[in-house]
Amino acid sequence: EDKQLIIAIDGPASSGKSTVAKRIADQLNLIYVDSGAMYRTITYVAIKEHIDLTDEKKIVNALERVSIEFERTEEGQSVFCNNKEVTDDIRQNDVTNAVSIVAAHPLVREVLVDRQRKIAMKQNVIMDGRDIGTVVLPDASVKIFLVASVDERAERRYKENRQKGIKSDLTKLKQEISERDYKDSTRKVSPLRKADDAFEIDTTALSIDEVAEQIKKNIFEKYPKLRK
Ligand code: CDP
Ligand code: CDP
Repeated sequence: EDKQLIIAIDGPASSGKSTVAKRIADQLNLIYVDSGAMYRTITYVAIKEHIDLTDEKKIVNALERVSIEFERTEEGQSVFCNNKEVTDDIRQNDVTNAVSIVAAHPLVREVLVDRQRKIAMKQNVIMDGRDIGTVVLPDASVKIFLVASVDERAERRYKENRQKGIKSDLTKLKQEISERDYKDSTRKVSPLRKADDAFEIDTTALSIDEVAEQIKKNIFEKYPKLRK
């Protein structure tokens, strides 16, 4: 059967969504769509253009002039905004700490959800974010919800930063992650929430490989032919 394969992965910051999604995308030959990178890109543009982040209309206006494109690379995935690479820019702290404000605007979400669905219509995809299983792709064939303790998630970000040569404060990282969790799960429109039919994995004590294996087991149960 050639039914389209659509996999939704949701969960809070640093639960391991993108790392695991990229790995599965490579192994099963799927397109990986990083919905968070889209919210980050418009946040980056708004900051750069000195737009008041609470001004929803102005942000939507800017978003309509912005194209967001992904390109697979050996190390991961590059992000382009109007054909200019922004892969690293959108991971900077100022963007990370502002993105939940921008992502709470209903009209911003409307535009981005529409773009996300358009990408998913054409091919086999694995998409990660906060509302993929609940709102963006409610008919996804496999839904996964990843969680991990705040301590573990802050530790992961800390190590990731250290590897990139960025010094960070663990206590502050923990605070920032908790604050983003709170904003993302309490906003009115499409809050971070596990879909009723999603499979939850607590990754606190699991390696990336172990998480990927569990997800693949889920996928193969529905699509035995994919097992090689
Ligand atoms: O990688 P990390 O977990 O830090 O976050 P991300 O996936 O890059 O998402 C950044 C932010 O974008 C989140 O904290 C949310 O505020 C927002 N977001 C969202 O609202 N809906 C999504 N589907 C994806 C991200
Ligand atoms: O996309 P999300 O923000 O959910 O998380 P991520 O960027 O994929 O993962 C954050 C960091 O945690 C990365 O440096 C991963 O290598 C690491 N990680 C881990 O140590 N163990 C896991 N089971 C998953 C991720």
